[in-house]
Amino acid sequence: MGVIVPLQDGKTEPRASIEPLVRLASGDMARVNELILDRAGSDVGMIPEVARHLIDSGGKRLRPMLTIAAAGMCGYTGSGHIKLAASVEFMHTATLLHDDVVDESDMRRGKAAARLVWGNQASVLVGDFLLGQAFKMMVEVGSLGALDILSNAAAVIAEGEVMQLAAAKNTATTEDEYLAVISAKTAALFSAAAEVGPTIAERDRAERAAFRSYGTNLGLAFQLVDDALDYGGSAAELGKQVGDDFREGKITLPVVLSYRRGSDEDRAFWKKVIVDSAIEDGDLEKAVVLMRRHNAIDDTIERARHYGGVARDALAPFPDSDYRAALLEAVDFCINRAH
Ligand code: IPE
Ligand code: IPE
Ligand code: MG
Ligand code: MG
Repeated sequence: MGVIVPLQDGKTEPRASIEPLVRLASGDMARVNELILDRAGSDVGMIPEVARHLIDSGGKRLRPMLTIAAAGMCGYTGSGHIKLAASVEFMHTATLLHDDVVDESDMRRGKAAARLVWGNQASVLVGDFLLGQAFKMMVEVGSLGALDILSNAAAVIAEGEVMQLAAAKNTATTEDEYLAVISAKTAALFSAAAEVGPTIAERDRAERAAFRSYGTNLGLAFQLVDDALDYGGSAAELGKQVGDDFREGKITLPVVLSYRRGSDEDRAFWKKVIVDSAIEDGDLEKAVVLMRRHNAIDDTIERARHYGGVARDALAPFPDSDYRAALLEAVDFCINRAH
């Protein structure tokens, strides 16, 4: 008798886990977390208060684990990857503080968003502090290559968030334009987090490009799934409210597809809720019904699967190792995740 393995939707692999990556990175991540707490400190009391509110609520720590695993897989033996991983998580933490202000979100990592407790001003400024601390650590590592990659990502993330702001409420947004936004706001940091591993290990251009591609495509898949979960997930599992994108009029792929595939009447509905922000009770539920009718959520996940495949193939030429296996499984985890 074989073991019965639960399937996601009858056609995919068994639920993949982030555990192998967590296990392999755990020794280094303990040092990364210590460093994160240390560098979130400041004599200005409000800074650690706000920063620790977010940091102590956890988060998956996915991006710094990519840095740790990429460095490990590339045979790096120094300690620079610890500071770079902490920098990556600080960049992420800073973007979350800023993003919740921009998106007017109330919940993050299962708690009230920092902006609700301390206000928008404190959230923006503490985000800036963390970004500054991230760059300080990068300089301490002394790899100009890593500094180049991460500083570029910091600028691209901000560009992505501004690009998204400019596209807000525009139902004519194309799938390509949406991809350009998520490529910048999300995939750029995944890409940089992965690429700094081979960079500090002084691996050749081809290997650096392979990790860059892995990170970029994993990041695209991650955000596509996130955007699907905003309509199809649960707040309890996500630690943030569902329907935020809808209430904000954010044009994510489920909306792009539903709008394009819908009838004239459907499009009138999308115009009312997205362009005119005239959202009434029951409209979020109606949006989900339209999305389901046009396969918009499933197809968003299908696109994520495609980019996940590209990410996996990027690491295909490398010799088999525990690190590689963990990074490959992390791709499936990101696609099948509910949180
Ligand atoms: C949230 O990222 C921001 C997005 C890119 C969607 P995560 O889902 O990785 O956030 P934490 O760090 O686990 O809270
Ligand atoms: C996440 O973007 C923040 C960045 C990638 C900069 P979103 O606004 O799409 O994600 P959530 O839903 O707030 O986590
Ligand atoms: Mg947001
Ligand atoms: Mg946002």
